[in-house]
Amino acid sequence: GANILSVKQLDRDAIGEIFAVADRMEPYAHRRKRTKVLEGAILGNLFFEPSTRTRVSFGCAFNLLGGMVRETVGLASSSLSKGESLFDTARVLSSYSDVIAMRHPDAGSVAEFAKGSRVPVINGGDGANEHPTQALLDLYTIEKELQGRGQGIDGMHIAMVGDLKHGRTVHSLAKLLRLYKNIRFTLVSPPELAMPDEVIAILDDAGHQVVVTDRLEGSLSQADICYLTRIQEERFPSLEDARQYRGRFRLNQSIYTQHCKSNTVIMHPLPRDSRAEANELDNDLNENPSLAIFRQADNGVLIRMALFALTLGVDHLLEKYDAPVLW
Ligand code: CP
Repeated sequence: GANILSVKQLDRDAIGEIFAVADRMEPYAHRRKRTKVLEGAILGNLFFEPSTRTRVSFGCAFNLLGGMVRETVGLASSSLSKGESLFDTARVLSSYSDVIAMRHPDAGSVAEFAKGSRVPVINGGDGANEHPTQALLDLYTIEKELQGRGQGIDGMHIAMVGDLKHGRTVHSLAKLLRLYKNIRFTLVSPPELAMPDEVIAILDDAGHQVVVTDRLEGSLSQADICYLTRIQEERFPSLEDARQYRGRFRLNQSIYTQHCKSNTVIMHPLPRDSRAEANELDNDLNENPSLAIFRQADNGVLIRMALFALTLGVDHLLEKYDAPVLW
Protein backbone atom coordinates (compact mmCIF):
# COMPACT_ATOMS: atom_id res chain seq x y z
CA GLY A 1 0.00 0.00 0.00
CA ALA A 2 1.02 3.57 -0.62
CA ASN A 3 1.30 6.54 1.72
CA ILE A 4 -1.52 9.10 1.74
CA LEU A 5 0.27 12.39 2.24
CA SER A 6 -1.47 14.92 -0.01
CA VAL A 7 -4.64 15.24 -2.06
CA LYS A 8 -2.35 15.96 -5.00
CA GLN A 9 -1.85 12.17 -5.23
CA LEU A 10 -5.54 11.57 -5.93
CA ASP A 11 -7.48 11.51 -9.19
CA ARG A 12 -11.21 11.04 -9.90
CA ASP A 13 -10.83 7.25 -10.24
CA ALA A 14 -9.12 6.98 -6.86
CA ILE A 15 -11.79 9.15 -5.22
CA GLY A 16 -14.55 7.05 -6.82
CA GLU A 17 -12.95 3.88 -5.47
CA ILE A 18 -12.52 5.31 -1.95
CA PHE A 19 -16.15 6.54 -1.86
CA ALA A 20 -17.48 3.18 -3.12
CA VAL A 21 -15.60 1.33 -0.36
CA ALA A 22 -16.75 3.96 2.19
CA ASP A 23 -20.38 3.24 1.21
CA ARG A 24 -19.78 -0.46 1.93
CA MET A 25 -18.47 0.42 5.42
CA GLU A 26 -21.79 1.86 6.55
CA PRO A 27 -23.31 -1.33 8.08
CA TYR A 28 -20.05 -1.96 9.97
CA ALA A 29 -19.80 1.62 11.24
CA HIS A 30 -23.42 1.48 12.40
CA ARG A 31 -22.93 -1.93 14.11
CA ARG A 32 -25.39 -3.78 11.90
CA LYS A 33 -22.47 -5.96 10.77
CA ARG A 34 -19.05 -6.82 12.12
CA THR A 35 -15.86 -7.80 10.33
CA LYS A 36 -12.58 -9.31 11.52
CA VAL A 37 -10.77 -8.52 8.30
CA LEU A 38 -7.92 -6.69 10.10
CA GLU A 39 -7.74 -9.02 13.12
CA GLY A 40 -4.14 -9.02 14.34
CA ALA A 41 -3.18 -5.81 12.54
CA ILE A 42 -1.84 -2.83 14.48
CA LEU A 43 -2.40 0.86 13.73
CA GLY A 44 0.26 3.21 15.07
CA ASN A 45 -1.79 6.34 15.81
CA LEU A 46 0.74 9.13 16.35
CA PHE A 47 -0.74 12.46 17.32
CA PHE A 48 1.83 15.12 18.14
CA GLU A 49 -0.84 17.84 18.14
CA PRO A 50 -4.29 18.01 19.80
CA SER A 51 -7.13 16.20 18.04
CA THR A 52 -10.56 14.84 18.87
CA ARG A 53 -12.16 13.67 15.61
CA THR A 54 -9.18 12.64 13.52
CA ARG A 55 -7.37 10.66 16.19
CA VAL A 56 -10.42 8.91 17.58
CA SER A 57 -12.05 8.22 14.22
CA PHE A 58 -8.79 6.77 12.83
CA GLY A 59 -8.66 4.55 15.91
CA CYS A 60 -12.33 3.53 15.79
CA ALA A 61 -12.17 2.92 12.04
CA PHE A 62 -9.29 0.49 12.58
CA ASN A 63 -11.09 -1.17 15.52
CA LEU A 64 -14.26 -1.55 13.45
CA LEU A 65 -12.23 -3.51 10.89
CA GLY A 66 -11.06 -5.81 13.68
CA GLY A 67 -7.61 -4.27 14.22
CA MET A 68 -5.81 -2.96 17.30
CA VAL A 69 -4.64 0.59 17.93
CA ARG A 70 -1.44 1.72 19.64
CA GLU A 71 -1.51 5.43 20.45
CA THR A 72 1.19 8.03 21.00
CA VAL A 73 -0.29 11.34 22.10
CA GLY A 74 1.69 14.57 22.43
CA LEU A 75 5.28 15.44 21.58
CA ALA A 76 6.27 15.31 25.25
CA SER A 77 5.43 11.60 25.47
CA SER A 78 7.71 10.76 22.52
CA SER A 79 11.50 10.64 22.28
CA LEU A 80 11.17 13.25 19.52
CA SER A 81 11.34 15.61 22.52
CA LYS A 82 14.88 14.26 23.21
CA GLY A 83 16.05 15.20 19.73
CA GLU A 84 15.36 11.91 17.94
CA SER A 85 14.74 12.43 14.22
CA LEU A 86 11.46 11.78 12.43
CA PHE A 87 13.36 9.27 10.26
CA ASP A 88 14.60 7.19 13.22
CA THR A 89 11.22 7.42 14.93
CA ALA A 90 9.58 6.13 11.76
CA ARG A 91 12.08 3.26 11.37
CA VAL A 92 11.35 2.09 14.89
CA LEU A 93 7.59 2.60 15.10
CA SER A 94 6.94 1.16 11.64
CA SER A 95 8.34 -2.18 12.78
CA TYR A 96 5.69 -2.20 15.54
CA SER A 97 2.77 -1.35 13.23
CA ASP A 98 1.09 -2.36 9.95
CA VAL A 99 0.04 1.18 9.09
CA ILE A 100 0.62 4.57 10.72
CA ALA A 101 -1.64 7.62 11.00
CA MET A 102 0.18 10.77 12.04
CA ARG A 103 -0.47 14.40 12.91
CA HIS A 104 2.35 16.85 13.58
CA PRO A 105 2.58 20.67 13.92
CA ASP A 106 5.17 21.12 11.13
CA ALA A 107 4.30 21.31 7.43
CA GLY A 108 6.08 18.52 5.55
CA SER A 109 6.80 16.52 8.72
CA VAL A 110 4.54 13.59 7.84
CA ALA A 111 6.21 13.22 4.42
CA GLU A 112 9.59 13.37 6.18
CA PHE A 113 8.47 10.65 8.59
CA ALA A 114 7.18 8.53 5.70
CA LYS A 115 10.72 8.40 4.25
CA GLY A 116 11.82 6.37 7.26
CA SER A 117 8.71 4.23 7.52
CA ARG A 118 8.50 0.64 6.33
CA VAL A 119 4.68 0.66 6.40
CA PRO A 120 2.14 3.03 4.78
CA VAL A 121 1.75 6.42 6.45
CA ILE A 122 -1.48 8.44 6.39
CA ASN A 123 -1.31 12.19 6.98
CA GLY A 124 -3.70 13.26 9.75
CA GLY A 125 -2.66 16.92 9.38
CA ASP A 126 0.82 18.44 8.99
CA GLY A 127 0.89 22.01 10.28
CA ALA A 128 -0.89 24.46 7.99
CA ASN A 129 -0.11 22.30 4.96
CA GLU A 130 -2.63 19.52 4.34
CA HIS A 131 -5.29 17.32 5.90
CA PRO A 132 -6.11 14.91 3.05
CA THR A 133 -8.44 12.55 4.91
CA GLN A 134 -10.51 15.54 6.09
CA ALA A 135 -10.78 16.74 2.48
CA LEU A 136 -12.01 13.30 1.43
CA LEU A 137 -14.65 13.16 4.16
CA ASP A 138 -15.68 16.74 3.31
CA LEU A 139 -16.00 15.91 -0.38
CA TYR A 140 -17.92 12.71 0.45
CA THR A 141 -20.27 14.78 2.64
CA ILE A 142 -20.73 17.44 -0.07
CA GLU A 143 -21.57 14.73 -2.60
CA LYS A 144 -24.19 13.17 -0.28
CA GLU A 145 -25.72 16.52 0.73
CA LEU A 146 -26.01 17.73 -2.88
CA GLN A 147 -27.24 14.34 -4.14
CA GLY A 148 -30.27 14.76 -1.90
CA ARG A 149 -31.08 17.91 -3.89
CA GLY A 150 -30.45 16.41 -7.32
CA GLN A 151 -27.22 18.39 -7.66
CA GLY A 152 -23.61 17.35 -8.25
CA ILE A 153 -20.21 18.73 -7.32
CA ASP A 154 -19.51 19.96 -10.86
CA GLY A 155 -20.97 23.46 -11.19
CA MET A 156 -21.52 24.02 -7.47
CA HIS A 157 -20.80 27.26 -5.62
CA ILE A 158 -18.76 26.98 -2.40
CA ALA A 159 -17.92 29.79 0.00
CA MET A 160 -14.87 29.17 2.20
CA VAL A 161 -14.79 31.46 5.21
CA GLY A 162 -12.35 32.39 7.97
CA ASP A 163 -8.64 31.67 8.39
CA LEU A 164 -7.88 30.48 4.86
CA LYS A 165 -4.15 31.09 5.32
CA HIS A 166 -3.58 28.56 8.09
CA GLY A 167 -6.57 26.24 7.57
CA ARG A 168 -5.15 22.99 6.22
CA THR A 169 -8.65 21.57 5.73
CA VAL A 170 -9.57 24.26 3.21
CA HIS A 171 -6.18 23.95 1.50
CA SER A 172 -6.75 20.23 0.95
CA LEU A 173 -10.43 20.54 0.01
CA ALA A 174 -9.77 23.33 -2.53
CA LYS A 175 -6.91 21.33 -4.09
CA LEU A 176 -9.10 18.22 -4.27
CA LEU A 177 -11.83 20.20 -6.05
CA ARG A 178 -9.35 20.90 -8.89
CA LEU A 179 -10.54 17.54 -10.25
CA TYR A 180 -14.11 18.79 -10.80
CA LYS A 181 -15.61 21.23 -13.33
CA ASN A 182 -16.87 24.83 -13.27
CA ILE A 183 -16.85 25.36 -9.52
CA ARG A 184 -17.43 28.85 -8.19
CA PHE A 185 -15.30 29.65 -5.14
CA THR A 186 -15.99 32.64 -2.90
CA LEU A 187 -13.04 32.97 -0.53
CA VAL A 188 -13.96 35.12 2.48
CA SER A 189 -11.18 36.11 4.88
CA PRO A 190 -9.33 39.14 6.22
CA PRO A 191 -6.70 40.02 3.55
CA GLU A 192 -3.92 38.93 5.95
CA LEU A 193 -5.50 35.48 6.27
CA ALA A 194 -6.15 34.92 2.57
CA MET A 195 -5.95 31.57 0.78
CA PRO A 196 -2.29 30.95 -0.27
CA ASP A 197 -1.46 31.94 -3.88
CA GLU A 198 -0.36 28.36 -4.58
CA VAL A 199 -3.88 27.09 -3.90
CA ILE A 200 -5.57 29.86 -5.91
CA ALA A 201 -3.23 29.08 -8.84
CA ILE A 202 -4.41 25.45 -8.75
CA LEU A 203 -8.06 26.60 -8.88
CA ASP A 204 -7.30 29.02 -11.75
CA ASP A 205 -5.52 26.26 -13.69
CA ALA A 206 -8.56 24.00 -13.22
CA GLY A 207 -10.74 26.70 -14.84
CA HIS A 208 -12.74 27.45 -11.68
CA GLN A 209 -14.11 30.92 -10.95
CA VAL A 210 -12.55 32.46 -7.83
CA VAL A 211 -13.80 35.56 -6.02
CA VAL A 212 -11.79 36.86 -3.05
CA THR A 213 -13.48 39.13 -0.49
CA ASP A 214 -13.31 40.20 3.15
CA ARG A 215 -17.08 40.59 3.54
CA LEU A 216 -19.30 37.69 4.60
CA GLU A 217 -22.67 39.34 4.10
CA GLY A 218 -23.45 39.55 0.41
CA SER A 219 -21.04 36.70 -0.39
CA LEU A 220 -23.36 33.85 0.53
CA SER A 221 -26.50 34.53 -1.51
CA GLN A 222 -25.54 32.09 -4.29
CA ALA A 223 -23.56 29.58 -2.24
CA ASP A 224 -24.62 25.91 -2.25
CA ILE A 225 -22.03 25.21 0.45
CA CYS A 226 -20.79 27.55 3.18
CA TYR A 227 -17.60 26.06 4.67
CA LEU A 228 -16.53 27.91 7.81
CA THR A 229 -13.18 27.57 9.57
CA ARG A 230 -11.75 28.45 12.97
CA ILE A 231 -9.06 31.10 13.42
CA GLN A 232 -6.10 28.71 13.85
CA GLU A 233 -4.66 30.40 16.96
CA GLU A 234 -1.89 27.82 17.28
CA ARG A 235 -0.33 28.90 13.94
CA PHE A 236 0.03 32.61 14.82
CA PRO A 237 3.17 34.17 16.33
CA SER A 238 1.13 35.06 19.45
CA LEU A 239 -2.38 34.62 20.82
CA GLU A 240 -2.83 38.42 20.65
CA ASP A 241 -2.12 38.34 16.92
CA ALA A 242 -4.75 35.66 16.44
CA ARG A 243 -7.42 37.07 18.70
CA GLN A 244 -7.81 40.32 16.76
CA TYR A 245 -9.61 38.19 14.15
CA ARG A 246 -11.97 36.46 16.58
CA GLY A 247 -15.62 37.01 15.82
CA ARG A 248 -14.84 38.65 12.44
CA PHE A 249 -16.96 36.15 10.53
CA ARG A 250 -19.90 34.64 12.33
CA LEU A 251 -22.76 32.59 11.07
CA ASN A 252 -25.95 32.28 13.11
CA GLN A 253 -29.56 31.53 12.26
CA SER A 254 -30.47 35.17 11.67
CA ILE A 255 -27.52 35.80 9.29
CA TYR A 256 -28.26 32.48 7.58
CA THR A 257 -31.92 33.41 7.02
CA GLN A 258 -31.00 36.86 5.74
CA HIS A 259 -27.99 36.06 3.56
CA CYS A 260 -27.98 32.41 2.46
CA LYS A 261 -30.14 30.38 0.12
CA SER A 262 -32.91 28.54 1.95
CA ASN A 263 -30.90 25.29 1.90
CA THR A 264 -27.21 26.31 1.80
CA VAL A 265 -25.26 23.44 3.37
CA ILE A 266 -23.33 24.64 6.43
CA MET A 267 -19.99 22.88 6.93
CA HIS A 268 -17.07 23.24 9.35
CA PRO A 269 -14.25 20.74 9.90
CA LEU A 270 -14.60 21.30 13.66
CA PRO A 271 -13.57 22.07 16.31
CA ARG A 272 -15.64 25.29 16.20
CA ASP A 273 -14.48 27.86 18.71
CA SER A 274 -17.56 28.23 20.89
CA ARG A 275 -16.12 30.82 23.25
CA ALA A 276 -18.33 33.92 23.19
CA GLU A 277 -15.67 36.18 21.63
CA ALA A 278 -15.17 33.84 18.68
CA ASN A 279 -18.40 31.85 18.24
CA GLU A 280 -17.93 31.51 14.49
CA LEU A 281 -20.80 29.03 14.12
CA ASP A 282 -23.58 29.68 16.61
CA ASN A 283 -25.37 26.95 18.54
CA ASP A 284 -28.69 28.43 17.39
CA LEU A 285 -28.01 26.65 14.06
CA ASN A 286 -27.82 23.23 15.75
CA GLU A 287 -31.32 22.18 14.70
CA ASN A 288 -31.01 23.62 11.18
CA PRO A 289 -31.34 20.58 8.84
CA SER A 290 -28.70 22.09 6.52
CA LEU A 291 -26.07 22.00 9.29
CA ALA A 292 -23.84 19.14 8.10
CA ILE A 293 -21.02 19.45 10.66
CA PHE A 294 -21.83 16.28 12.58
CA ARG A 295 -22.55 14.34 9.39
CA GLN A 296 -19.02 15.34 8.30
CA ALA A 297 -17.58 13.94 11.54
CA ASP A 298 -19.65 10.74 11.18
CA ASN A 299 -18.49 10.28 7.59
CA GLY A 300 -14.89 10.49 8.82
CA VAL A 301 -15.19 6.95 10.17
CA LEU A 302 -16.43 5.56 6.82
CA ILE A 303 -13.71 7.32 4.84
CA ARG A 304 -10.94 6.23 7.22
CA MET A 305 -12.21 2.63 7.23
CA ALA A 306 -12.13 2.72 3.42
CA LEU A 307 -8.60 4.14 3.38
CA PHE A 308 -7.32 1.45 5.74
CA ALA A 309 -9.02 -1.33 3.75
CA LEU A 310 -7.61 -0.04 0.46
CA THR A 311 -4.15 0.76 1.83
CA LEU A 312 -3.84 -2.71 3.36
CA GLY A 313 -5.44 -4.39 0.33
CA VAL A 314 -8.32 -6.07 2.18
CA ASP A 315 -11.28 -4.22 0.65
CA HIS A 316 -12.24 -7.30 -1.41
CA LEU A 317 -12.12 -9.53 1.74
CA LEU A 318 -14.44 -7.42 3.84
CA GLU A 319 -17.61 -9.53 3.76
CA LYS A 320 -15.64 -12.80 3.75
CA TYR A 321 -14.50 -12.17 7.35
CA ASP A 322 -17.86 -11.06 8.71
CA ALA A 323 -18.54 -12.03 12.33
CA PRO A 324 -21.80 -12.07 14.27
CA VAL A 325 -22.88 -8.97 16.19
CA LEU A 326 -23.45 -10.32 19.69
CA TRP A 327 -24.64 -7.22 21.53
N1 CP B 1 -11.43 18.13 11.90
C1 CP B 1 -10.39 17.79 12.68
O1 CP B 1 -9.28 17.54 12.20
O2 CP B 1 -10.67 17.73 14.02
P1 CP B 1 -9.63 17.33 15.17
O3 CP B 1 -8.56 18.41 15.18
O4 CP B 1 -10.43 17.30 16.43
O5 CP B 1 -9.04 16.01 14.81
